[in-house]
Amino acid sequence: MIQIIDDRVFVLTTEHTTYAFGILPTGQPEHLTYGGRMRIDRDTAALLSDKHAFSLGNAITYDAEHPEFSLEDARLEASFYGKGDIREPFAEIVYEDGSFTSDFVYESFMVTPDEYSFDELPGAYAADETDGVESLRLTLKEKNRGVWLDLYYTVFPKTDVITRRSVLRNEAEHEVTVKRLMSLQLDLGGKNWSLTSFTGAWTREMDKHTAPVNAGKLVVSSYTGTSSNRANPFVMIHEANATEDHGKVYGANLIYSGNHYEALEAGSYGRTRFVSGMNPQSFAWKLQKGERLVSPEAVLAYSGEGFNGLSHAMHAFVRRHIVRGYWKDRVRPVLLNSWEASYFKINESKLMKLARAAKDVGIELFVMDDGWFGTRSDDTQSLGDWAPDSKKLPGGIEGLARKVRSAGLRFGLWVEPEMVNANSELFRAHPDWCLEIPGRAHSEGRNQRILDLTRGEVQDWVIDAMKNVFGKEGVSYVKWDMNRIVSDAFSSALPADRQGEVFHRYVLGLYRVMKALTEAFPEILFEGCASGGNRFDLGILCYFPQIWASDDTDAWERFRIQNGYSYGYPMNTVTAHVSASPNHQTLRKSPLETRFEVASFGVLGYELNLMDLKKEDYEKVKVQTALYKKWQEVMQFGTFWRVENEPLSSWTVVSPDRKRAVGLILQGLVSPNTQQHVFKAAGLDPDLRYHFYGRDIKYNVKGFGDLINQAAPVHVKDESVVQEIISRFVKMEGEKEDGHAYGAMLMEEGVHLAPAFGGTGYDNRVRFFQDFSARMYFMEAEEEGTEKPVPEGNLVDGSEPVF
Ligand code: DGJ
Repeated sequence: MIQIIDDRVFVLTTEHTTYAFGILPTGQPEHLTYGGRMRIDRDTAALLSDKHAFSLGNAITYDAEHPEFSLEDARLEASFYGKGDIREPFAEIVYEDGSFTSDFVYESFMVTPDEYSFDELPGAYAADETDGVESLRLTLKEKNRGVWLDLYYTVFPKTDVITRRSVLRNEAEHEVTVKRLMSLQLDLGGKNWSLTSFTGAWTREMDKHTAPVNAGKLVVSSYTGTSSNRANPFVMIHEANATEDHGKVYGANLIYSGNHYEALEAGSYGRTRFVSGMNPQSFAWKLQKGERLVSPEAVLAYSGEGFNGLSHAMHAFVRRHIVRGYWKDRVRPVLLNSWEASYFKINESKLMKLARAAKDVGIELFVMDDGWFGTRSDDTQSLGDWAPDSKKLPGGIEGLARKVRSAGLRFGLWVEPEMVNANSELFRAHPDWCLEIPGRAHSEGRNQRILDLTRGEVQDWVIDAMKNVFGKEGVSYVKWDMNRIVSDAFSSALPADRQGEVFHRYVLGLYRVMKALTEAFPEILFEGCASGGNRFDLGILCYFPQIWASDDTDAWERFRIQNGYSYGYPMNTVTAHVSASPNHQTLRKSPLETRFEVASFGVLGYELNLMDLKKEDYEKVKVQTALYKKWQEVMQFGTFWRVENEPLSSWTVVSPDRKRAVGLILQGLVSPNTQQHVFKAAGLDPDLRYHFYGRDIKYNVKGFGDLINQAAPVHVKDESVVQEIISRFVKMEGEKEDGHAYGAMLMEEGVHLAPAFGGTGYDNRVRFFQDFSARMYFMEAEEEGTEKPVPEGNLVDGSEPVF
């Protein structure tokens, strides 16, 4: 709801939050409050406004009529350099006389039902009229220059999100240069706010870092040309002692896939400013008379219930107002990707063997990754030459797709449309189509260059080339990769004084290409990827419903990475694969079940050579896919909770009606003789009674090494043939967890689990829980009185200890 009091106070209300600002006597919009829902009327609004009575030391006085007022001591909706505010500016504009002082004041407002949309950039949208979405446009005018700034606020009441974006319009005779245009400014009262950001690198995405900002500023930014794995644009600002379930937390994200900038600054007068928008570094955008510059849309949410509360608002918002199209609310298929199974060494017969095995274990979609086109036997060649290698695929894409489909699977493939290798037909034909400085040596990444998507003809070429690939009969999935960051940022199509526009124009060009292709192929399931998570952002999610979260498929690492994404992104946007052990990125060994259990909390896939699996593991994969399919609606569309549950890492995902839930516990390195663990759930209905149970898993005796000699009638050497033979026939019964509990108990106290292996004995009352082990638990609501009797304690059949 948008409420306007006397045309001077603006109150934006969502189901659980209130955001308000008013217009100061000097004309600037003053931020009044943002927090839990509150009623504000004419009288109460006055109490929210800052009072000023005397001039502040050596601070600048805004004007002679208000000697007591300095912009440096104000909470503002948008601020500018030159009239006293020396903190992070919202916009910086260089005028024709070289001056960069701006003095924007309020001019008018307009309220409209629905969201605003701009052709230039993707944005959030109302799914239908029941969303109650409304927008406010606040227009500011530069007092002396004929330049206007529109601040847009869109309220998404049901998901507790307010979005902001800005549009700068030049109506003056002279050209101006925009050095910075932020999307969002939030001036919070008080200091002592902490900033949590998600930084990293390739295979180390979404590493969570928290730091207090009591003085100076903290900056999170990307300068890679992408939203980047170095620093995701999603950040949280919160009370220092906020936890998963308690405390005030603000979350901000950008609907943008390029260079971004977030800064949290403690001002000199006890306030804290947050800004977020395109990275001003190397940015300079010329605006001629009549032109406008539109900022990306920023997404803002608040929760008084800790990080989980904030995540739930973000998740609901992304699901309903960002992701769109055919796959928006559809369950995503379980896929098998060829990359870690065979890398570049693919051909039709190998792929078909893999595809048949995939079908046999219950996989639904087969994806041919890199290596299928041109002469692509490694990463030095053929990017840009999108014709199949006839030696590898004699029947072309259609031929393979036909075979895969007749094996009973859907078919999809990998492309990297934005790139070209110097060793390619495309580069030889159009050497000037790259982002590079003519006549200078180019610094490559993964032996490739970036096509200059600032240029219309290059965009058109990519659209046509990809239409040709995606239009082949049988293609129902596309993985869209992007494997390097920008260097030598320069477009030969732009004049010298517009090179500061290259980064942003690239992103605009990319969006035009993605829009054209997703509209041309509405039913193809697109998956974004950029060496894993180098472009995991809301801009991409406006076109592609899911993104490959990381090239790191190690289960232990993946838990941390997926946990990081879960703060700002719903789990049905995060794809996750079961891969080989030892893992290809870390060489770490981890149990197959752990790999599955961690991956199944995202959109599950497999990425390994199924034919190389031992029979036992192959059979386990069949059980896994069947189990996942039974629960995939909950896993992909349920409410996701991070559960504080030391010493284990723990998640719960709960169906929207709270009748079905799945939990996970994961351990790192075993700490000996600490065998008592508790599983705690979250998000359940406290008054519902649930059937709580674990998986029925049997263990390979090999997992016990030569400890098995404590029970074996003959001596069994570890890693011996005898051990191998025994292991085929003798399976160790896993512990059974099966019981009934009310939601409140599962959440407050949790289930005291069967003790973990502690070195002195093992039988079916003991949880075989080695390094990097996990357990998945299921909770299903039941009618009272319908419960089946369960065995006493967790001893199933009173068997003697094995050893
Ligand atoms: C990087 C991706 O993240 C991988 O999954 C794989 O598709 C390779 N590129 C292929 O070159």
